[in-house]
Formats: sequence, structure tokens, C-alpha cells
Amino acid sequence: MTVKVAVLASGRGSNFKALIDAVESGNCDARILVLITNNPDAPAITVAKQAGIPVEIVQRMDFPDRGAMDDRIKALLDKHGVELVVLAGYMLLIKGKNLLGVYRNRIINIHPALLPSFPGVDAQKQAFDYGAKISGLTIHFVDENLDAGPIIYQEAVDISGCKSAGDVSKKILDREHAAYPKIIESFSKGHYAVEGRRARFVSNSKR
Ligand code: GRF
Repeated sequence: MTVKVAVLASGRGSNFKALIDAVESGNCDARILVLITNNPDAPAITVAKQAGIPVEIVQRMDFPDRGAMDDRIKALLDKHGVELVVLAGYMLLIKGKNLLGVYRNRIINIHPALLPSFPGVDAQKQAFDYGAKISGLTIHFVDENLDAGPIIYQEAVDISGCKSAGDVSKKILDREHAAYPKIIESFSKGHYAVEGRRARFVSNSKR
């Protein structure tokens, strides 16, 4: 069944664009209901407008604390009837207990490294500076900790030939654009049962 998605992004929005393209070309059975951003200057807003996707701007400075900010995001998700929250370059941790509670195991993030290696910002530079030969990408559920929720999917990327952190970013980003829509598509065919740290796909057809 078509999965109803909200995208949260703070910046460029290339993963958001890749998802839009996959939906439009029939490769991902999802409906993107809304883009929510904390950054009124995010290029992702232009991406949304070009695709006719509504944009909601939720800025930190308009709220007394992060909990209140996330309550507003939760209200928007409820209003739009969102089933799956897709973080795509969203630069804030989710702190709201209501948001994390009600949408537990329905908020996913993509991280440009093989977690638990190289969490946080500049993961590609961290991997390059470390001299890693293999890095990759991780798609995981979001919990209260940084880049730490149960892992849904990982893909290794050979970065041994990369000459700069920028090369690493490019190589991994290419794989991100292919992988994220595929995983989002999987939510239209089932769900992920989470037991402890483990997320296991359960197909609707096996019910
Ligand atoms: C991606 O590398 C993603 O893995 C990370 O932030 C970056 C977002 O890029 N979480 P974009 O905004 O999708 O182009």
C-alpha cells in the first residue's frame, strides 16, 4: 500500500529529489505529503516547490525549547496523516518525547557511513581522514541518540581510490540516491519489527 511520507531536510535536498524522481517514475510506491524544514533558505524548498509538494518551515527560534519545536512537527505530521518520516539531511536531533514516542520506528534517517563508525557530522571526511578503505551508508530508525537507532539497511562503498573527502561524499551520495527510495518502497510492502537493536523486515504478504 502506498506509504504516506513526510521528508525533513535542512539543506541541499538531493536525497529528497532522488525520492521524488523514484516516486514519479513508478519505482517507489510512496506519496510525499509534505517537506518540513528548519531552514528557510534550504535549497530543498525549491525542490519541493518544483514538485508541487507543500512546505512547512519550523524554526528553532520560534519555540522556547526543542521539545516545543518537535511538538509542532508532530502536529504537522498528524495533520497530514503521515505514516513514515524520512530524514534527509535534517541537521537537528529529534528531542520531542511525543514525536519520538508516537512515531517510534516510523522515523528513518540516512547516514553516510557504516554506523557505528563515524557518527555525527562530516562522516565522509572522518572516514577519509581515518584512512578507511571501506565506508558506506546506513539507513536506520531514529531514537533519542545521535545516529544510533536500529539499523534497517547498510551498504559498503569502496573508498580506497578516493583522493579527497569530497570524492568520498560523491561516491557514497550516488549509492544513497539509489538505496533510500528502495528502502522507503519496502515500507509499502511491509514493516520492520524491532526487537532490541535488531530491525527485521516483515512482509505484508506473509501475514
Ligand atoms: C547526505 O549525505 C545524508 O546521508 C546526510 O546528509 C546528506 C544530505 O544530503 N544525512 P542531501 O541534502 O540529501 O543532498
